[in-house]
Amino acid sequence: MSHSIPQSLASRRILLIVGGGVAAYKALDLVRRLKERGASVHAVLTPAGAKFVTPLSLAALCGEPVRQDLFSLDDDARMGHIELSRDADLIVIAPATADLLAKAANGFAGDLASTLLLATDTRALAAPAMNLRMWLHPATQRNIARLKADGMAFVGPNEGEMACGEYGPGRMAEPLDIVAAVEKALQSPTAIPLPAGVLATSGALAGKRVVITSGPTHEPIDPVRYIANRSSGKQGHAIAQAAAWAGADVTLISGPVSIPDPVGVDMRHVETAAEMLAAVEAAMPTDIFIAAAAVADWRAAAPAAGKLKKVASGPPALMLVENPDILAAIGGRKQQRPALVVGFAAETDDILNHAREKLSKKGCDLIVANDVSPENAVLGGDLNTVHLVDAKGVDSWPRMRKEEVAARLIAALAERIGGSGS
Ligand code: CTP
Repeated sequence: MSHSIPQSLASRRILLIVGGGVAAYKALDLVRRLKERGASVHAVLTPAGAKFVTPLSLAALCGEPVRQDLFSLDDDARMGHIELSRDADLIVIAPATADLLAKAANGFAGDLASTLLLATDTRALAAPAMNLRMWLHPATQRNIARLKADGMAFVGPNEGEMACGEYGPGRMAEPLDIVAAVEKALQSPTAIPLPAGVLATSGALAGKRVVITSGPTHEPIDPVRYIANRSSGKQGHAIAQAAAWAGADVTLISGPVSIPDPVGVDMRHVETAAEMLAAVEAAMPTDIFIAAAAVADWRAAAPAAGKLKKVASGPPALMLVENPDILAAIGGRKQQRPALVVGFAAETDDILNHAREKLSKKGCDLIVANDVSPENAVLGGDLNTVHLVDAKGVDSWPRMRKEEVAARLIAALAERIGGSGS
């Protein structure tokens, strides 16, 4: 081992899953490159992978036994395998075949590799390698998009001549490029796909009801035009997901968004602020109400029944009227007021003062304030920096993934309300 190579992966534990494909031979070089940078590498070889490289050569390079079979009694006990993926700092799938990615995207667990990927929240980095038609197939691209949304990182594939003689994307990234992607994935503290608090909050809101608003609202100007804002719904949806994971009975009322519905929640899709208010009223009573939606402050006073046309006299004047404030309506309830009313304050300056103002003006128990200045890329982005403001003071959290904000917020709310399951 050369001493001139920087030990950029010193004491890092990598679990390498080697799938079946001609590129599997490059996985051997990858092990060498990872180890010479100080990483320890445990390998799992799929049955298809074993057609291309032998367990013996992989084991010799790793200096560790190679796992091949979920049900093998020769390897460690099955639980030991699962520990392997939980203990790793990063799972690397190289080559990541179309089959492995399809299994991971759909949560299959019929073999060792897919079980390891499903039974952990350890981050995974995939280096896809496959025939270019398989790569370009909508099914594969759909799986990749799903896995990216779930937090999986990708390196490659590269374009080039394929083993089958065709030319295009599908060649596995070179080992040194994969090493660089491993280093990058391990540097990023925010790349954890599942928020750390999820397991901790499991059952914390059992027996409680939570109603959440999320996303923007669309306020029609005429049948084809509307007033909207940049809210993606990511934060509100993540909170709904975290609340469901914590065992709550969750109703999520969302304006138009392009992200998937969270799993295990009662969804209500709405367009306008008026529809959102009606859906919230209909979802009462609740223990917790969280207003994460970016409700349009104004709507057109009189939306046109037909499409507005350009006319010689110039552009039409748009008369606006104020929308009902959903949060203030719920926070100010005399009867059936939720035990906890939580609002958001999206601000670009003087964040904490504005948040305190909203806390009292809208009758909230807690305001989650965030700085939505364009340089923070909060609106539509994956990260958020929030301050929890209540009558007692301010708790400022570091910048983190919206899923993690959600898990922590749910943990904080469960503590305040005291779940029956806790
Ligand atoms: N909100 C609401 N209904 C509205 C407007 C806002 O429920 N019509 C809620 C949001 O979901 C959020 C909170 O109120 O939880 C703060 O919204 P924000 O738009 O930041 O505040 P505004 O009331 O619009 O105040 P300002 O325009 O001064 O920022």
